[in-house]
Amino acid sequence: MEFSTTFPLILGVLLFFFARNFQNWNLWRSSRADNIPHVPGHLLFGSTEYFTRRDDFLEETFERLDSSIFRFRVLFYNIVALRGNAASTLFFNKKSLSFEAGYRLMHGMAPEPHDVKLKTYSELASPTFAKRVSTILKTEYYERIFPKILDIFEETLKRNASQSFNAFDTLKPCIVRAVLHILGSETISESPESVEKMTNIIGKLSEGDSMTNIISCLTLFLFASFVETPPTISWIMIYLSTSSEWNERANREVQGFLASHCSIRQGSSVSQYLAQIPLHAWETDLPVLDAVIDETVRLTLIGAVIRRNVGEDFNFEGSTIRHGDFLTYPLADKHLDPAQFPSPHSFNPGHHLGVDTANKFWGFGGGRHPCLGKRSAYIIIKAFLVTLLTGYDYTIVDRHGHPLLAPPTPKKNSFHTCELEAGVTAHVDLAFKVIQE
Ligand code: HEM
Repeated sequence: MEFSTTFPLILGVLLFFFARNFQNWNLWRSSRADNIPHVPGHLLFGSTEYFTRRDDFLEETFERLDSSIFRFRVLFYNIVALRGNAASTLFFNKKSLSFEAGYRLMHGMAPEPHDVKLKTYSELASPTFAKRVSTILKTEYYERIFPKILDIFEETLKRNASQSFNAFDTLKPCIVRAVLHILGSETISESPESVEKMTNIIGKLSEGDSMTNIISCLTLFLFASFVETPPTISWIMIYLSTSSEWNERANREVQGFLASHCSIRQGSSVSQYLAQIPLHAWETDLPVLDAVIDETVRLTLIGAVIRRNVGEDFNFEGSTIRHGDFLTYPLADKHLDPAQFPSPHSFNPGHHLGVDTANKFWGFGGGRHPCLGKRSAYIIIKAFLVTLLTGYDYTIVDRHGHPLLAPPTPKKNSFHTCELEAGVTAHVDLAFKVIQE
């Protein structure tokens, strides 16, 4: 294409976008009086590093500006980055900071084009999601489906025993199966009973709500479980196998747990053996495993959470946060701060065991936005770990089969990532163990 034809075309596209987002540009210009240092970024695109190297971009800019707050732009949208004690309190507790409107930007969905049309906080979806999730996650329901979840975990481990497998990949379908089972849809296409079960669940969830909302609730549940749970379990296996102290403490706790709750050996499989244990014991009697989960999330859930101010402009420590601003807060601000967690890069579940971590551990959210899947995630992760530690010996090896002596460093710079750095692999070598009666 000739320059004479491409130039007007590009100009036309730019003018179109400028006109559509004029209000946001205006906000960007007027926000210069807000007492917040500005990072100009690229003339058109702004600071796209927020999407390509998020953690480094935030950390470097806070340091360079020697400030706990700065403003930058991505395309037409203003983002205010915050750190520090007051910032985390504001972030997780202020009513007008919308979780849902914030993540529209994060997940590449188009934010509302005109700020004046932003939803107000009273219209947000999460209370409805919480209500729907609590409808299906009643204790009696979990008790009923729990043995099947144990079966799924044992089946996965058995299938992969005596060979090396990549935990990060292998656990994905296993967790999806378990969650589909929780949602009542595992064999939906094959079995009429399952269809009935699913119909009942949808019926319970709906309570006059639209089908789109019900489906989005089920999808969110499945998606959140799929994204967070398999890498968290994989990292736990890596950390335990490379820490003799915590491996021993976790094993000792599991042995005590079995001794107190599995007096009778039922059947021959690990899952049948574990199915004797009441659900409440899984939730209350495994404090070391709880601390192992929290510590793993602290080290591996690297990223920055995001909100959007859907309320009025407000003052935060002398700076003005405007209506329509996005806000972002890096979890590393607390999670990797030596003042909060001594030797912050080392795996030490003692950081959580018997310690009040309120206002410093945000690994499962908090304030107005606690993770609604936390209970489900803990049950699933502990069910998997106890199955593993009860029935199997395992070592973590690299791709050449050599045992990993130290844990690799989690990959930085993306949201909700708990993956390995490129080029690093962690395979699991499994061998059966005899169940102690
Ligand atoms: C290891 C597993 C998980 C981890 C580490 C985790 C972590 C988190 C974190 C950090 C937040 C707060 C985000 C923020 O404030 O911006 C959050 C919120 C949330 N999580 Fe999870 N999550 C996990 C599993 C799940 C599961 C299985 C579900 C499925 C039900 C789920 C559903 C949600 C929902 C709906 C919210 C938003 C709550 C709200 O709107 O206020 N999560 N989670």
